[in-house]
Amino acid sequence: MREQLNSIRERAEKELSSVEQIQDLENIRVKYLGKKGELTQVLRGMGTLSTEERPIIGQLANEVRKLLESKIEETGKKLAEMERSRKIAREVIDVTIPGRRKFLGSRHPLTIAIDQIREVFIGMGYEIAEGPEVELDYYNFEALNIPKGHPARDTQDTFYINENILLRTQTSPVQIRVMENKKPPIKVICPGRVYRSDAVDATHSPIFHQIEGLVVDKGVTMGDLIGTLQVFAKSLFGENSRIRLRPHHFPFTEPSAEVDVSCWTCGGKGCRVCKNEGWIEILGAGMVHPKVLEICGIDPEVYSGFAFGIGAERTVMGKFNIDDMRLLYENDIRFLKQF
Ligand code: PHE
Repeated sequence: MREQLNSIRERAEKELSSVEQIQDLENIRVKYLGKKGELTQVLRGMGTLSTEERPIIGQLANEVRKLLESKIEETGKKLAEMERSRKIAREVIDVTIPGRRKFLGSRHPLTIAIDQIREVFIGMGYEIAEGPEVELDYYNFEALNIPKGHPARDTQDTFYINENILLRTQTSPVQIRVMENKKPPIKVICPGRVYRSDAVDATHSPIFHQIEGLVVDKGVTMGDLIGTLQVFAKSLFGENSRIRLRPHHFPFTEPSAEVDVSCWTCGGKGCRVCKNEGWIEILGAGMVHPKVLEICGIDPEVYSGFAFGIGAERTVMGKFNIDDMRLLYENDIRFLKQF
């Protein structure tokens, strides 16, 4: 029996030393210490021993049991510890791995230019005004001194929702909305989208953008308008740029002018960009028509004002040397990411 016990101890110790899984450890425990385990069998057979031998073997058997129990416990702890460190190793975050770079977009050139124009005018004390893109005929035409049947309507054909509602052809209706709601002094700009039923080509799009400006106060003159537009042109196209006014006609301003900027490419000498003109037209302007002031309840005997409408696309194309307006709307990433 003594040999049997020694053999149990030796084999159990050997098996324990190489065990790797908790489940195997449990199998070893059952194999030796379980109800039908080897050691249990030996203890059961003690009855056959002599009275002298029984306490000796009994003690030895107990020692082996204690030894195995403590070794099993110890091994169990070791296995649990190993499993824990394996888990930690698996879950570790390597903070030295380079991150995945997020794709950063860039602002659309139109947004860049319109924001810059806003900054220039905000710097001169202007406020930003807004109006609807789906507009009443009254604001888009009628109140701007363009009655039904006026030829100016033909050049601004647009998309009609019904007889009285249309997609605005210009940002000028915002002038009326502002003057209806605010008494002078008025100093606003209104950047926004406008619509005309034009066919798409390198210089036309049925949707485009304007920046409207309106100043109404006592004693506002054409000189103020010209000075303001000079500041605008220099801020956008550089210190050396000049402006030129050509007489024109808009029903809602009197006198009216079309305003050119000296060519940003050749400086006025004449080149391909300005079609050898030396000048490029970018806006319409004039002194607010007395009739328009009156319609808005402002006394033209007391107040005067000027207004202008800048073509945003033209300005952007000039600023960034873009030769085809369609590029602004095609959303080709290769184009857009250059700005
Ligand atoms: N609304 C005019 C246009 O679209 C431009 C303009 C605005 C002219 C303000 C004079 C004053 O052509």
